[in-house]
Amino acid sequence: MNRYLTFLAVVVVAVIGFFGLQGKKSKDTPVYVFDDMDYQSKYKPQGENTFFADGRDARPAVAGTVARGTGLEPLKVFAADYRRAESLNPSFATGKDAQGNFLADFPTKSLTILAGGELAPFTVDAKTLALGQAKYQIYCAVCHGQAADGNGIMKVRSAVEGDVAIVSIANLQQPLFRAYPQGQVFDVITNGKNTMLGYGDKLSPEERWAVVAYLRALQLSQSCPPNLVPAALKATVK
Ligand code: HEC
Repeated sequence: MNRYLTFLAVVVVAVIGFFGLQGKKSKDTPVYVFDDMDYQSKYKPQGENTFFADGRDARPAVAGTVARGTGLEPLKVFAADYRRAESLNPSFATGKDAQGNFLADFPTKSLTILAGGELAPFTVDAKTLALGQAKYQIYCAVCHGQAADGNGIMKVRSAVEGDVAIVSIANLQQPLFRAYPQGQVFDVITNGKNTMLGYGDKLSPEERWAVVAYLRALQLSQSCPPNLVPAALKATVK
């Protein structure tokens, strides 16, 4: 009996001694009973490897791989004026003014540096809207729909498949989103919002502003006050 109690005491002390210290902060090197995933065999980007003929861990990208983001960026990084336009006009790339507030209106200057060193103006014209339309249809319409009412193919499919996760696609015709400052819509496109991913790595700042402009056109198209409809069009709409 005595031996059994001594054995039990040793086991209890050992268990508490070992597990009781888990989670405590210590500067000592930890004792690894199990490595978990702290130490595991893996390939590292610059590592050597005898398995492959070229002796490298890193594998070259498969032919035809499409780069994420702007593939040309690495070539520009060492250019003298790299991101100079953005530093001259930071709100164009962020949608916010110097105080961190969303721009109420579209920026007036672009990120294009003219020969004289000035920034070219940014204007919402037919060309901007055409660019915005093209990008909206590629990147936004699948979810938000051709008319920005939230009824894109994803909504339709998720209803069919019964996938509740996608049903919360925002209806961008709602007054709430119409009232957003331009910079806030730009910010949602850049960084995403809740379950929506950002498109900052896929669309350039110019393209994002163009999408904002096109979205405004779509919103107007669903709520156009009669006095804004050109007379020529009014005649055709009976
Ligand atoms: C894969 C589906 C999907 C795509 C593609 C998508 N969105 Fe969204 N978007 C959502 C969902 C879902 C929400 C609602 C997010 C939430 O609040 O949960 C949303 C919300 C928004 C909002 C409102 C954000 C807020 O403040 O509540 C805006 C504006 C918006 N999207 C614009 C866009 C634009 C512009 C594009 C194209 C560049 C786009 N979205 C592409 C799914 C998508």
